[in-house]
Amino acid sequence: MGHLHNRNIIIGVTGGIAAYKIAELIRLLRGDGAAVRIIMSQGAQAFVTPLTLQSLSGFPVHTELLDETAEMAMGHIELARWADAFVVAPATADSLARLAAGRADDLLTTTALATPAPVFVAPAMNQQMWKNPATATNIQILTGRGITIIGPDAGEQACGDVGQGRLTEPAQISAAISAHFPNRALEGRRVVISAGPTREPLDPVRYISNHSSGKMGFALAQAAAEAGAETILISGPVTLDTPKGVTRVNVNTAIEMHAACLQHIKTPTELFIGSAAVADYRAEFNAPQKIKKVGDTLNVSLIRNPDIITEVAKSSSRPSLVVGFAAETENLIEHAEAKRQGKQLDVVIANDVSRADIGFNSDVNMVAWVDSAGHDVVPLTTKRNLAKLLIARCIEKLAAHCDQDEKIVNSLEDER
Ligand code: PMT
Repeated sequence: MGHLHNRNIIIGVTGGIAAYKIAELIRLLRGDGAAVRIIMSQGAQAFVTPLTLQSLSGFPVHTELLDETAEMAMGHIELARWADAFVVAPATADSLARLAAGRADDLLTTTALATPAPVFVAPAMNQQMWKNPATATNIQILTGRGITIIGPDAGEQACGDVGQGRLTEPAQISAAISAHFPNRALEGRRVVISAGPTREPLDPVRYISNHSSGKMGFALAQAAAEAGAETILISGPVTLDTPKGVTRVNVNTAIEMHAACLQHIKTPTELFIGSAAVADYRAEFNAPQKIKKVGDTLNVSLIRNPDIITEVAKSSSRPSLVVGFAAETENLIEHAEAKRQGKQLDVVIANDVSRADIGFNSDVNMVAWVDSAGHDVVPLTTKRNLAKLLIARCIEKLAAHCDQDEKIVNSLEDER
């Protein structure tokens, strides 16, 4: 049974040359078990005929907002409610602007406004149009509303230009949609996640810390719990509510986080994610009384904290998959790969914390997934969406590990 079994997906097709690729997207989504209905804009119908997409989807294609016959069969509000996901692909620059403006003057934009389902947008346009600040602003508006932007990819374009603006391949669009629907692949598995900052005391009223809000780690814990995992969230001091189904362990200092992480992986754990921003140093002496203001300078001697994730990765109870984060301000990929190798991690999720709009304390993030096969960028999206995508990728990686282990066992048995 496909992962999208019983899921209803609407694809809103707008008028770009990449519209022909939607045939493949329909095939993939249906192959994964989804029921797919198509809405076509006027422009889209100049590139592909409704009859083609009707034959592939198995449903009449919806084209008009004010069509009596269509409204009798399935009205636009009913259509909006029918959807478990609404995907606009390809999304032209004009359709992005219309969605960002909240227009409702055709069937596609009206349904996008009326649907309670998550909305995905896969842009495709000329590279210059994609670079235009007007398009960038529209993308920012849509992202801020929780809409997931998929792509676009870079490469040669139909108009002869080379650059970013190609529709992301249908297989990747389909994967991004699938990732949104929690499968219960982590049922019976245990996941330990660290989140938030640590606080390193200087005296009873002062401490050294950082800007981590815990949002990224809490979103990951929520996604892991939704995927069925027994989820332990080891959290530094933050003001967030504990996600449903998650066991939270509160800590303050790096030393406390270190002890809690090593303790909690003693119970066999499949996945450890270190999203916490752990202070690398702590004050050598934690003054028992408030430090008095004397002199113009104050010297504080700092000593190294243990590297928690390195010890998790080296531990005899090492989880099957150990995933770290890297907060970098320059040379993102190089530094992330160096951390991955240095700390013996399977994966590093690298975020550029020099940008004010992502990383620390923001609701959105954009990261690169770095593993032994190389790296790829996960485009800007909400931390909630990103967490679902990252957990889905961890599930794939765990499955690959299992296949590998099975092969090793089989070859050992063959040798005997
Ligand atoms: O909490 P938010 O506001 O949502 O922000 C999210 C985030 C920016 C904090 C998060 O996405 C992130 O990047 N977390 C890691 C921040 C960090 O400390 O990066 P680092 O490059 O210093 O550390 C690399 C890895 O080693 C991390 O997995 C970290 O948890 C781990 N580490 C670091 C130091 C230490 N003493 N022990 C560790 O385990």
